[in-house]
Amino acid sequence: MNAMIEDLKITKQTALDQIAQCPDLKELEKIRVQYLGKKGRLTAVLRQMGKLESEERKVLGQQGNLVREAIETALAESLQRLKLHETEQKLNGEWLDVTLPGKKPKAGKKHPISLVLDDIIEIFMGMGFSVADGREIETVRYNFDALNAPSDHPSRDEQDTFYINDDVLLRTQTSTVQVRVMEKNRPPLRIISPGRVYRADDVDATHSPLFHQLEGLVVDKGIAFADLKGTLEIFARRLYGENTGVRFRPHYFPFTEPSAEMDIVCFSCDGNGCRVCKQEGYIELLGAGMVHPNVLKFCGIDPDEYTGFAFGMGLDRAALKRYNINDMRLLFENDSRFLTQFS
Ligand code: DAH
Repeated sequence: MNAMIEDLKITKQTALDQIAQCPDLKELEKIRVQYLGKKGRLTAVLRQMGKLESEERKVLGQQGNLVREAIETALAESLQRLKLHETEQKLNGEWLDVTLPGKKPKAGKKHPISLVLDDIIEIFMGMGFSVADGREIETVRYNFDALNAPSDHPSRDEQDTFYINDDVLLRTQTSTVQVRVMEKNRPPLRIISPGRVYRADDVDATHSPLFHQLEGLVVDKGIAFADLKGTLEIFARRLYGENTGVRFRPHYFPFTEPSAEMDIVCFSCDGNGCRVCKQEGYIELLGAGMVHPNVLKFCGIDPDEYTGFAFGMGLDRAALKRYNINDMRLLFENDSRFLTQFS
C-alpha cells in the first residue's frame, strides 16, 4: 500500500515536471496519453488496487483521483500556454508593415483611337445621328455588289482584299453598313457606324492590314449636296476647332455620285505648308458623296422619292494626326508605356 502511494507521488511529480517542460502541443498530447491513457502510468498504478483491502482501496482511490486532477489541471494550463505561444509565433511570422507604401494597380487608359472616336460620336449624336453596328466578316454582295462597285474594280482583287472563299471576305470598308441599314430600315435615316476593316496591305508607318473606319449615312426626302457640305463642315469644326477651314475636291467612289473628298486646313501650319501636311497646307479628312441611285434601288428605296449622302473616314489616321504620332504601328503594338500617354 505504501509502495503504491509512493508510486502515485512519483507519477504525479514526473508528470508535472514533464508537462512544465513540454515545448509544444504535440508533445503535450503524448504526455497526456502516457499518463492518463488506457495504457497510461496512472491507470497502471490504479489497476493494482484490486489486490488491496477495501479500506486501503478507498484511500488509494482518493489519492489516485487527486493525482489525476493535478495532472489534468497541469495539462489544461499547459495547453492554454502552448496555444497562445503558437498563435504568437504564427503572428510574428506573418508580421507586416502597414506603413509601407502600397503597390498601385496599373489602371487602363482609353486607346487613342477610342478617344478620337468618342469625340466623333458625340459630335454626330449632337446632330441627331445614331450609331449602327455592322459585321467584319461580310459577303462580296455587301462589300462590292450592293455598293455599285464595277465587276472589274481593282479593290475586288485578291491582292487588296482578304477572301475567306469566293463569296465571303473580311470587309474592306464600313460602307457595307449603309446597305445593311437601308435594307432593314426605311428613311429618314441618319446613322454613323465605326468599326474594323481589313485590306491586304503590308505593315508600315502609314498602313496596317487591320484599321478602323467610320461610315456615315443620311437618307431622307430632299437631301442635297448642301446638306452634305453643311453637316461635314460643322463636324470638322467641332473636331478640329471652330476656325478650321475646309475644302471639297471632286473624287470618284462607285457608291456615290457626285463624290468628293474633304480636306481641312492644316492645323499645324494653318495652311502655309509644313511636315504634317507634306507642304500641302491641307489634310485629307474624309470621302463623301450623294448616295448613288443604284445603291438606293438595291436596298429597295426609290431614288425618285429619296436622296441621301454618305461619308467615310479613317479613324487611325485621325488619331495619328490628333496626337501627332508619326507611326501607325504604335497604335497596334499595345505597349502600355505608349498607350498611357493619351487622355
Ligand atoms: N469606303 C470609302 C473608303 O474606304 C470611304 C467612303 C467614301 C465612304 C465616300 C463613303 C463615301 O460613304 O461616301 O475609302
